[in-house]
Parts: sequence; C-alpha cells; structure tokens
Amino acid sequence: MAEQTLTITDNRNGKTYTLPIQNDTIRAMDLRQIKVNPDDFGMMTYDPAFMNTASCRSAITYIDGDKGILRYRGYPIEQLAENCTYLEVAYLLINGELPTKCELDDWVKEIKMHTMLHENTKKLLEGFRHDAHPMSMFISTVSALSTIYPEAKNVLDPATRRRNMIRLIAKVPTIAAYCYRHSLGYPYVYPDNDLSFPENFMSMLWKMMEPKYAANPALARALDILFILHADHEQNCSANTMRAVGSSQADPYVSTAAAAAALYGPLHGGANEAVLRMLDEIGSVDHIPEYIETVKAGKRKLMGFGHRIYKNFDPRAKIIREAAGAVFEVTGKNPKLDIAIELERIALNDEYFIKRKLYANVDFYSGIIYQALGFDPAIFTVLFAIPRTAGWLAQWEEMITDPEQKIARPRQIFTGHWIRDFVPMEARQAKGAGATT
Ligand code: CMC
Repeated sequence: MAEQTLTITDNRNGKTYTLPIQNDTIRAMDLRQIKVNPDDFGMMTYDPAFMNTASCRSAITYIDGDKGILRYRGYPIEQLAENCTYLEVAYLLINGELPTKCELDDWVKEIKMHTMLHENTKKLLEGFRHDAHPMSMFISTVSALSTIYPEAKNVLDPATRRRNMIRLIAKVPTIAAYCYRHSLGYPYVYPDNDLSFPENFMSMLWKMMEPKYAANPALARALDILFILHADHEQNCSANTMRAVGSSQADPYVSTAAAAAALYGPLHGGANEAVLRMLDEIGSVDHIPEYIETVKAGKRKLMGFGHRIYKNFDPRAKIIREAAGAVFEVTGKNPKLDIAIELERIALNDEYFIKRKLYANVDFYSGIIYQALGFDPAIFTVLFAIPRTAGWLAQWEEMITDPEQKIARPRQIFTGHWIRDFVPMEARQAKGAGATT
C-alpha cells in the first residue's frame, strides 16, 4: 500500500514537511509547524464557508453528492422512506441502530409522554402578533423551553441529555401546530396521544369541533415520508450551527433554537417557502422563459435549485416527486405542479444550469406537496424543522461525546488597521456612506 503521507515543501525557505494522511485528509493543526521564523504563528488554512474542511468525524449520515446517495446510519434513504415511520428513523439517527419492535414501542411511548407544552409556553405564544412569522415564533418558543427545563444545562450527563432530547422531539410538533393556529386566530388543540406522530400533528393543526380528528391515512403517510426525508443531512448549515453553539455546552433547547434560526434562511430550509413565492410570481408556464432569463442574468436565483454537495441529483427530491402522486390523488393536483415541472425541464436543458450542475433539490417539490396538504407557505420551514430536530440532536450528542471536540473557535486572517493612535473627537473627519457634516 502506498505511504499515507503528504510531503509539503515551503518554497519560502526550502524546508520540507511530511504530514500523515488519514481518510484522505490532513489535519490542519499539522500545518502549524510550517514557519519561516521561530516566532511565526505557523501556517493556517483559509476556507470561507467551509468548502473543503471536515469539522468532525461523524457516523450518522453519509452523502455522495456526485452519485446522489444519502444514507442514515448506512441505510439508503429510499429504503427508510419506503419501510419506516419517522419516529423509527429518529430512533435510528439517535441510537445508531433500527429499533426492535419492543424498543420502538418504548420509544414511541416515551415520545408521547412528552408532547404537552407547559401552559406558560402557550401564554408566551399568545403574546406574538397575529401576523408573526411562524418560524420566528418557533425559534423563540424552542429557546424558551430552556426556562422550563433548566436541568438541561447538565449536558455532560447522558440521562439528562436523553430526557431532554426526547422532550424536544416530542414537543416541536406541538409548538409548530400552536404557531400555525395562532396565525389563524384559532384556539390551540392539545396533543392526542392515541394518534400516531403525523396524525397527532395533523389533529393539532386542523381539528375543529369534532370530538376526534380522523386523518386521511394517505396524507398522514405522505407527511411522515417528508419527515423521514428531512430528518438529517450531515454537516449542513443548521447542523453545523447546532454543533458550534452546543460546543460551548449551551443547553440543547437554545442550541436547537440556534440551529432552527440557521434553517430559516432562504438559502437553507427557507428555500421551500421561497419556491412557492417564486412559482406564484411566475404565475403561468408561458412566463417561465422570461423568468429563466432573469436568473441567467444574475438578477435572482432559481429557488429550490442547486446544492453545495449534490451535483447530480438530490435523492430526496426524487422520492418527494413520487410521494406527490399519492397526495394529489387525495387532494387533487396543485396547479403549481405544471409550472414546477416545466421550470425543471427547461432548467435541466439549459447550458447555464448544466454547466453549474444545478438540479432540483429537496425544497423544489416539497412546498408544492405541503401546499396541497393545506399548509400556508409561511409554515413550510417549520415543517422542515420538526424532523430535522432529531438530526440536530443526533449531531449534538455525537459532538458532546466526541473526545476530540472542543469549543468551536475558528481562526481569522486579520485585514484591519494594524495599530493607530487615538484621534480626539474634534480632529475626526467624516468618511464614507451616510456621513454627515
Ligand atoms: N439559481 C441560479 N444560479 C445558481 C443557483 C440557483 N439556485 N445556485 C447556484 N447558482 C450559481 C451561482 O450563482 C454560481 O454561479 P457562478 O459560478 O457563475 O458564480 C454557481 O451556480 C455556483 O453556486 P454557489 O453559490 O457557489 O454554490 P453554493 O454551494 O455556495 O450554494 C446553494 C448552494 C444551495 C446555497 C445555492 O445553490 C442556492 O442558493 N440555491 C437556491 C436556494 C436553495 O434552493 N436552497 C436549498 C438548498 S437544499 C435544502 C437545504 O439545504 O436546506
């Protein structure tokens, strides 16, 4: 076998260094020995947006972006989406193995025991304006749970960690549903623990005067599949935020709220809402060519297209397109589907998108299904956050229990003034935009 080392020559002084290679990776800290003078800081790597930096070792999710592969704990996403429930997948992500029947029963029972919110949390939600964005409400409320469970700070204790992870997985649908009902001015519906995870969520969203909510099984299954597809996605922006905030040993509630805040942005989970707004703006199939031209001219992005990792296809988008059929059979076709399909067809044949390897991602079709299910676009990202909570927590616990991890603290290349003498107020000159004299 070839020697697993990398030899680097520093052409500033001709010195040569041999660095070990493991997993096709060198350790950035091994570069620190590269110095011209003994008092130099040592060589660093510069990698804005982490384009080529592994920040952790992880055994949770594997993606091969060129081949369009996504696996949770070794299981292909296609098989999980076909055969599992979301709670089974959440168990897998957190515990590393699929549960036995008995383990799953216990897990589901435990989750169901924690679906209720403290009444104070409900009051907190009541305080938001009627038109507050559900994602802002969701982030604030998840964070506020930390005031109800202060023991969660004890992040080094496995039993405490486990209890609060279960609480989070159980309570996020309740928070999401309360946010939704608040935006409609409807009374909140308490969890119904006779129902399955997706059915209970649907009940909390849509139950009106009937004594018991009866979810359409095909729609409940479609929602559960969407939850499975969104449950984890290795070191994405929000998982990285979860790990970074959690690395300071902040409690899992505030760390999850921070991760949800990262998800909210339109380049990440907020894209599903942005796709629907884009399809509304396009309005009809004959406006697509004109819209594509504005994208190619760099005036806007085609939302739901492109991915940092997937450069061939997003396997989640493929499964969602198939799940859409089952939903539309019940709800009737969302008229936006025709615009989306034609938009994708044109983009896939256009040199601009081909050259840049831009394909439809998970968010391109999920919004169309969510809308057919009866959701308003403003809640789409909250629907993403519900299952992703399991992924964030799996990533968080892996980070906490990894002896190599420390507080996340990147370096910088300083580009500011080196040193200057203080200037008294009367001697200062107004400069730059917005300056007044
Ligand atoms: N529409 C038009 N052009 C695009 C798009 C797009 N959606 N995405 C990337 N490009 C262009 C980009 O302008 C650049 O062109 P050039 O080389 O001429 O400067 C090139 O493709 C490479 O893009 P990039 O910005 O360097 O790629 P990135 O890896 O930094 O960004 C992304 C990935 C997902 C943020 C980006 O593709 C994007 O903004 N997509 C639209 C938003 C979206 O759908 N986000 C959801 C991502 S999947 C779910 C999730 O992660 O939550």
